[in-house]
Formats: sequence, C-alpha cells, structure tokens
Amino acid sequence: MTRTLQIPTARVFQPLLQPSRYKGAHGGRGSGKSHFFAENLIKDHMLHSGLRSVCIREHQKSLKESAKKLIEDKLAKFGLGEADGFKVFKEVIETPGDGLIIFQGMKDHTAESIKSLEGFGRAWVEEAQTLSKQSLKLLRPTIRAEGSELWFSWNPRREEDPVDKLLRSDETPTDAIVVKADYSDNPWLPKELEQERLDCMRTDPDQYSHIWEGDYVSVIEGAYYADQLREAERQGRIGRVARDPHMQIRAVWDIGVSDSMTIWIAQYIGREIRVLDYCEGQGQPLGYYLNWLRSNGYQDALCVLPHDGAKRDAVSAVKFSDHIQEAGFETKTIPNQGKGAAMKRVEASRKRFPMIWFNKDTTEAGRKALGWYHAKLDEARGADLGPEHDWSSHGADSFGLLCVDYEEPGGVLDFEYEETDWVV
Ligand SMILES: Nc1ncnc2c1ncn2[C@@H]1O[C@H](COP(=O)(O)OP(=O)(O)OP(=O)(O)O)[C@@H](O)[C@H]1O
Ligand SMILES: [Mg+2]
Repeated sequence: MTRTLQIPTARVFQPLLQPSRYKGAHGGRGSGKSHFFAENLIKDHMLHSGLRSVCIREHQKSLKESAKKLIEDKLAKFGLGEADGFKVFKEVIETPGDGLIIFQGMKDHTAESIKSLEGFGRAWVEEAQTLSKQSLKLLRPTIRAEGSELWFSWNPRREEDPVDKLLRSDETPTDAIVVKADYSDNPWLPKELEQERLDCMRTDPDQYSHIWEGDYVSVIEGAYYADQLREAERQGRIGRVARDPHMQIRAVWDIGVSDSMTIWIAQYIGREIRVLDYCEGQGQPLGYYLNWLRSNGYQDALCVLPHDGAKRDAVSAVKFSDHIQEAGFETKTIPNQGKGAAMKRVEASRKRFPMIWFNKDTTEAGRKALGWYHAKLDEARGADLGPEHDWSSHGADSFGLLCVDYEEPGGVLDFEYEETDWVV
C-alpha cells in the first residue's frame, strides 16, 4: 500500500525542496527552520529506502539536546510508525529499507571516527552557528555518497563564523541553496512566541534584531570592552595611526600552537599606546608568524611573550622564546600573574583603554575579538564567571598582556609582578 503524505511547507523554505548538495536556512528565532528540516528529513527517508542520515550539533552532551525528539514528534504527527518502516529506539531511529537516523556531536569526532559517516546521505547541522572550522572541514568531504546533501540551520552570530563564511560569503560552494527565514515567514508561529517577540522589542531592543531578525550580533551581553571601544570610536581614536620610526615596536603574543596564535603590534609614545597592527592564525607553524613580522617591517620588534613562552617544547625541550630569539628577535617574558590572571588583564586593559589609539584598517579583526570578548554569565544568578573561552579570547589575551606590559612614563608600576628585573 502506498501512502501519500501531505506536508505543507512555508513559502520561504520551498526553494529547499529540490535536490541540492548544500542547503541552508538562517534567520531569527521561531522562523520554522528546525521544523522544516525535521519534516523534510522524514520525507527523504520515505522517498529513499535505506537512506542514512546524521543530525549534528557541534556540542551534544546528551540526546536531549538533539533533534531526535522533534523528529519523533513529527513521526507521531504524520502517523508514521513501524508499519511504515519507522521505529524509534533509545539512540537512533530506524527508517524504511534499513535506513537510519543518528544524532551526534561534531566535537566528539576525530579525523578517524568521522569516517563512520561515509555512506550517509544527509547531514543536518542544527545550530550551525557554533560549528567550528575544523568540524566543517571534517564533515564536508565525509558526506560523499552519491546524491548526498549537507543541511544547515542556524541563527547567525558573526559574519566570520564558519557556516556564514561557507554559505553567505562571495564564495559559496557549487550547488548551494540558502534561504533567510524570519518569524514573519512562519505561518504556524505560536502566539506565545509572538508575545515573547513583542516583549523582547520593548525590554531588550539592543538584542532584538539579532534574536528575532537574524542579524549578526552587534551588542553582546557581558562584553568587557564594549563601552571602551564605543568611547574610542567616539573620540576618534580608531583611525589612521602612523608608526613613529624612532620608537621601539612591540609585538605582543598569545601563544597557541595547535590553537589560535595572536600578535598585537604597538608603540608606547608618551602617554599613548599606539596600536598599529594585528595578526591572528590557526594551526600555522611559528615561521608563519615570524614571516608576517618581517614582511610587515616589524623585524626589529621586541617580542613580548606570556609566561608560557618560557615553557619548554615537550619534544625538543627548547623554549618557545628561544625559537623566537634564534630567529633574531629580542624577547621579554611577562611572568605568570597567578590566580585570576585573565581578570587582571581585563582590569589592566580597561584602565589603559583611554590612552589607546588603533590603526583602523589593520586592527579590525583584533577589535572584533575585543568587542566580542565577554563574561560567562551564570544564567541563574547573573554572576560573572570570568571570561568565556572562545575564538575571541586569544586576541583579547594578547591585548591584555600588552596593557599589563605597558609602563606609565615615570616608571610607575601599578601591577604586581611576581618578579622584577631591576637595572641599576
Ligand atoms: N511546519 C510546521 N508545522 C507546525 N508548526 C510549526 C511548523 N514550523 C514551525 N512551527 C511552529 O513554530 C515554532 C517555531 O519553529 P521552529 O522551532 O522550527 O523555529 P526555528 O527557526 O528553529 O527557531 P529557533 O531559532 O528558536 O530554533 C515551532 O515551535 C512550532 O510551534
Ligand atoms: Mg530551531
């Protein structure tokens, strides 16, 4: 017996009904993205016997966080059960013709383990704004079965997030269909959500366009330097800042060999900190950064390093700072600031901010990190749990080190160092 299933689809998602290698739906809260993909997945499993699909999140601590419940609810709504080939198990859903839907966190995958997904015909990434570059890099070539599709649903945060770069930049992959959906495109928007939307517009207007209209975040809650950056902009301290050819250049590092590495270039001139440049990389060898310094005219820079610059390489027993010195740079290591070091850097930075000038064109990526760097907030009590460790912390850490390193003219040292070298 053949069954005909009627699945009404909101107009905004209709372009996604045709086959396509990449499908994306981004937009604000309550636009129907999750419901659309859940229904579409069931439809594909009915049409393609034996299809295997994986529902993915970057982090998935338990199945509760997955799309499993939503898919189960949809199966119930459509009246699809064992007689139709769908069977819900604790961790997976069996689908017609020995097909399967599974639920996984990308963070748990390695280059080896991801191979288990070869042969899967659909990969649906929910909350794709949190998908890391590495996860995307692993996932794309893995989903390689004939006619396979990669689906992404997300509420955008930043233009630089990997999924936005993949599907919303000038260089989208071949055969990609991407739609933007908002609450106003959802014919089934519950009245409770509509009320939430109106309340948000009234009580949280700063966040409204991000939450409900799918705009990139402009104001982030708990951001440490939001006011300071606004003030710098207002006072014209973000503009054209020239390098003084007679003054020392400092290159202040945050070291992450397998993680992100960041460098701020600055000069201290009187009571001004002139921030001239910023460099950030991921997974690059040290030589990449040394080349960047040289090719930008910072070959004489004093490299200011955090305390882990004095750590020895596990394999070669050579200190990171030695490598930099061998390349011909002078180094200075800032001692470990002990407990609460991150917050000490935040305090130092806030204090120094009014004397900081940024060269606009070359420091944009760094200023974006500073604007994003924010407190992890305890949702229940609103308490500040210290800085959130994310993509922005690397740029913020080296910036903080720069501010800790700066000494007021006249030699007033108002930050406690564990040790100080005195030159008599
Ligand atoms: N196809 C549909 N059939 C029935 N109800 C729907 C459908 N699409 C959306 N809805 C209703 O609209 C609500 C919002 O949809 P959904 O959760 O899919 O939005 P979303 O874009 O994923 O939002 P969020 O950003 O909050 O994850 C759902 O909770 C549901 O009540
Ligand atoms: Mg959703």
